[in-house]
This record gives sequence, structure tokens and C-alpha cells, in this order.
Amino acid sequence: MSEDLSLVKGSKAERYEHLIPQIKGLLSGESDIVANLSNASAALKETFGFFWVGFYLVRGEELVLGPFQGSVACTRIKKGRGVCGQSWERDTVLIVPDVDAFPGHIACSSLSKSEIVLPLRKGGHFLGVLDVDSDILNDFDEVDEQYLTQLCNWVGDHCF
Ligand code: SME
Repeated sequence: MSEDLSLVKGSKAERYEHLIPQIKGLLSGESDIVANLSNASAALKETFGFFWVGFYLVRGEELVLGPFQGSVACTRIKKGRGVCGQSWERDTVLIVPDVDAFPGHIACSSLSKSEIVLPLRKGGHFLGVLDVDSDILNDFDEVDEQYLTQLCNWVGDHCF
């Protein structure tokens, strides 16, 4: 399969509809988790121009920075800390429209304004999170949640 993404213009939902099958195709041909999470991050960032896209993976009592696209980020997050640690503790998707209004938000960059964090699971077992940050306030909604949940479910089931 070609490594070039085919990008379309259109609504956010249309772009997800076009992108997710391409990510599945790209990742299906490879078994290495670092390669696959790297390409998933790159595909999301390239398609939507998000400020930062990446994975944090459970390592003992912490989340540790995994493959990502964007500026340097904090490497370790304890359960319950920041948006990622809260998503882990509460085992749920979190959409934060204004990171400055989120108590305990971990500011890796002052340019990040809003974010969505989604659990990655396999067979109900919590593996880590997908963290997507935007430099625009209130950039994420239920459309992102719906499609990124679909992607995370697939990545959890097929890539770990
Ligand atoms: N936003 C995260 C920290 C990680 S960086 O944004 C890449 C949080 O508060 O959990």
C-alpha cells in the first residue's frame, strides 16, 4: 500500500470517514506497535493540522510518552494528573474546550488551547490514551469523539 495519504476537503465527519479506512489499511500491513502508533499520529496531524497528536502508554503506575507528532512533551504522567491522567483514572473520554480552565492541566505548550483524550483498551484492559491538542479554543466535539473512539477501539484491538 502507498504511504501517501489521500486527503479530501469537506466537513470534519467527511474527512474522518475518508481517513479512518486509510489508517486501518496502513496499520494492517505492519505488526510493530511503535511504527503503527507513529503513523496513526502522523495521519491525524497531517489531515487536520492539529497542534499535537500522540499516545501515552501505561507503564506501571504512570503514563509514559509514546509515538507522537508535534513539539516536545512531558514524558511521564501519574494516574489522576492532567487530562490524560484523569482520562485513565476515570476510564473515559475527556473533551476540554479550554485547557486553562481545566484544574491540573499539564501545559506542555502555551499554544495548546483545547484537547480531547481517549482511552485505548484491549479486551477491557486499559493500555493508554490518545491525546489530541489544538491551538484553537473549543476545537473538539462529539464528531471527534465518535470517530476517534472508533479509531482507538480498532487500534486497541488490532495493534497491541
Ligand atoms: N495535555 C496533557 C499533557 C500532555 S501534552 O498536552 C502533550 C494533559 O494535561 O494531560
